[in-house]
Amino acid sequence: MEDSELVRFGVSMNRELVEQFDGLIARQGYNTRSEALRDLVRKALIDPNQLSLNEQVAGTVVMVYHHHLSDGLTELQHRFHHEIVSTMHIHLNAQQCLEIIVVRGILKRLKELQQSIQVLKQVVYAELSVTHIEPEEPHRHE
Ligand code: NI
Repeated sequence: MEDSELVRFGVSMNRELVEQFDGLIARQGYNTRSEALRDLVRKALIDPNQLSLNEQVAGTVVMVYHHHLSDGLTELQHRFHHEIVSTMHIHLNAQQCLEIIVVRGILKRLKELQQSIQVLKQVVYAELSVTHIEPEEPHRHE
């Protein structure tokens, strides 16, 4: 690589997340957190979901949230009722819920949904995963 200047920066995260990260590092055989982090960044940069924003796709939004704060979430899902095909809700424990939302539509719109969910304060994380839908063969009448 031509520009090989190393830049250092500090990262803050809570202890539990760091411990989980260290576990992942150990299992995957990295020597340092920096090495593992570099690979994660590279992976994010070549995300296979680099589909065109106007593409028709289908997929899921998987999210974890604290249910006692879930007000805005229902309203949000109603706003996106054209895109939301189905929702599966799992009560993980007394406070946390896992929800899997099956979505279908224009990628741009699904990203909007994911981002709107992500910023809700009760949401721990929300991840969109999609796949391209092959256009149907035009059907013929003979
Ligand atoms: Ni629940």
